[in-house]
Amino acid sequence: MIESYLSYPSKEQLVEAAAAMIVVRISQAVYESGKCFLALAGGTTPSEVYASVVQKAAPAQIPWDGVHLFWGDERCVPPDHPDSNYRMVHESLLRHVPIPEHNVHRIMGELKPAAAAERYSQEIADTIPGESPAFDVVLLGMGYDGHTASLFPGSTALDVFDDDVAAVFVKKHDAWRVTLTYPILNRSEHVLFLVAGASKAAMVERINNLEAPTRDYPASLVNPSSGDVRWMMDRAATALI
Ligand code: 6PG
Repeated sequence: MIESYLSYPSKEQLVEAAAAMIVVRISQAVYESGKCFLALAGGTTPSEVYASVVQKAAPAQIPWDGVHLFWGDERCVPPDHPDSNYRMVHESLLRHVPIPEHNVHRIMGELKPAAAAERYSQEIADTIPGESPAFDVVLLGMGYDGHTASLFPGSTALDVFDDDVAAVFVKKHDAWRVTLTYPILNRSEHVLFLVAGASKAAMVERINNLEAPTRDYPASLVNPSSGDVRWMMDRAATALI
C-alpha cells in the first residue's frame, strides 16, 4: 500500500534528504509555472526539515518571491502560542528567508474555529488559480495513530468532501483545530510524508499491509488522483516493512 518510499539510516539523513527534495520541488514548480503553492506540516520532524532547508538552500537558490506558503493544519491558538504551527514555521523557516509577507497564508488560529476555516478556505481559493485549487507540494507528518494534518481516526473532518478546509474538535487533544480535507489534499501534485522514529513503525507496517485505504488510518486515504505520494522515513520508522 505504500507504493513509493525512501528509508534513511538516521533521522538526520532523512531530514537532509527531505530538505533537498523540497528545494527541488519548489524550484521545479517555480520554473514551470512561476509559482509554487506549498502546504507545510506541523510536528517535530517537519520542523527539523524546515531548519535544514534554511541551512541547505542559500536564499538565492530558492525563488522565494514565487513561493506561497500555506499550512496543512493549525491549532486554534494565537500565532505566538507555543502550540501554533505558524509559530513553529516562523521560528524554523520564515524569519530566515526573504519570502514576501503577502506570500505567507497562515490559518488564523486566533479566530473562532469555523471562522478561521472559512477564511482560510477563501484565501486558498483567492490565491491558487482554478476552479479547484491544488497545491504543487504538500508536506505531511503522520502520528502513531495514523492521523495526518488534523485528520484523526473517528474525526468528523474525515467526512468533509464539500470543502477544502474544516474546523474540527480533536477529542484526543481536547482542542479545536483547522485542517485541510481530503478533497484538496487529493488534488495535490506532490505529497511528501515525513515520518521518523520507532513509535511510527507499527503504523507504517499497518498502512503498508493494507489492501485498500481505510478511515481507521487517515494517512492511508491521502492518494492524489493525478499526483504522487512519497513517504520519506528513517530506518526506525521502516523497521517492520
Ligand atoms: C500537527 C501536525 C501533525 C503532525 C504529526 C506528526 O499539527 O501536529 O499536523 O499531523 O504532522 O502528528 O508529528 P511528529 O513528526 O512530531 O511526530
